[in-house]
Amino acid sequence: MKTVTVSLGDRSYPIHIEAGLLPRAAERLAPLSRGRRMAIVTDENVRGHLATLQASLEAAGVASEAIVLPPGEKTKSWAMLERVCDRLLELGVERSDHVIALGGGVIGDLVGFACSIIKRGCRFVQIPTTLLAQVDSSVGGKTAINTAAGKNLIGAFHQPAMVLIDPDVLDSLPARQVRAGYAEVVKYGLIDDFAFFEWCEANGPALLAGDPAARVHAIAHSVAAKARIVAADEHETNGIRALLNLGHTFGHALEAEAGFSDRLLHGEGVAAGCALAFRYSMRKGLCERQDAERVAAHFRAIGLPDGLAAAGIDAPSATLVEHMKHDKKMAAGTLPFLLARGIGQTYLDKTVDLADVTAFLDGEPR
Ligand SMILES: NC(=O)c1ccc[n+]([C@@H]2O[C@H](COP(=O)([O-])OP(=O)(O)OC[C@H]3O[C@@H](n4cnc5c(N)ncnc54)[C@H](O)[C@@H]3O)[C@@H](O)[C@H]2O)c1
Ligand SMILES: [Zn+2]
Repeated sequence: MKTVTVSLGDRSYPIHIEAGLLPRAAERLAPLSRGRRMAIVTDENVRGHLATLQASLEAAGVASEAIVLPPGEKTKSWAMLERVCDRLLELGVERSDHVIALGGGVIGDLVGFACSIIKRGCRFVQIPTTLLAQVDSSVGGKTAINTAAGKNLIGAFHQPAMVLIDPDVLDSLPARQVRAGYAEVVKYGLIDDFAFFEWCEANGPALLAGDPAARVHAIAHSVAAKARIVAADEHETNGIRALLNLGHTFGHALEAEAGFSDRLLHGEGVAAGCALAFRYSMRKGLCERQDAERVAAHFRAIGLPDGLAAAGIDAPSATLVEHMKHDKKMAAGTLPFLLARGIGQTYLDKTVDLADVTAFLDGEPR
């Protein structure tokens, strides 16, 4: 068992990582149940793991009730928020109860937000079942739903009480989803950890093939990096947490152009976005060509997009930059960009001129 702690004073919490943890989850959950029934929220594609979790709880004498939602990004909606909140209230959830979010980032974000507002806040536990959720979204307390105006625009910071990660649940996840989540793993290396990027180059293929040791190492290393960043800047106010957005400004523009659909998964947008951020940094004379090429080559080797063409995006540059202008991070007419002086040397630049970004994108192959 590997345990990483997110240190946030009285809101600190452990992240437990171990293969085979889900069938034994009740060891960690029963002490939180206070002898009461536990509510579990999940989606239809995670039913198999729900059965494992409920069996574990039942064997420990803990009753549970499942709320099973439709899968997909559309579930992060006002309608589903209402459905989850109404059902949790019907079940009599109290402030000291722990609701269990079993699923990918969609379930984690929706349930986390529901728990931030139910009775002005109840507790919740994250049991992430996608690689993306295991290395990123289940940790750090960002919760949200999407609205007509855009993604993640309604939400709250609400930290979970515990995160339980069983890499074995990834066995049932489609390979494309595993690859997309892997982009966020590579991101931690690109941000400030060159040695970890080298580890990814050497071990990424084994990780994607399901190698148990590679999975545990990648997950534990990623959540430790995220835990450090979140502890240093919980509410994204001093520029440290913003580093996690590497590749996301370009990536979101591509995702928006693809209509936030299965045409381009979030992690695929992030991979292409990181490659673009490095090439843009190269164009600005910040990093060496070989660094930008090395980043792109790793994504290509893994089967992730390394730019617009591979992401299937042929929109004009002006359209893509228009998408960027709707970014939440846009402030007083400027958009902070994550740029790189090299692999593992990312920094936040608030002086980027969007006309220059447009010119850069004009030079990118479609
Ligand atoms: N809160 C944060 O800090 C944060 C960070 C990054 C991303 N996000 C959010 O996370 C969401 C994306 O998360 P995601 O990529 O996990 O998507 P997701 O939750 O939609 O899961 C992807 C797909 O895999 C299925 N699935 C989940 N676990 C499975 C399993 N073990 N076996 C088989 N199928 C399984 C789901 O039903 C879904 O169809 C986005 O909404 C994004 O905004 C949040
Ligand atoms: Zn992301």
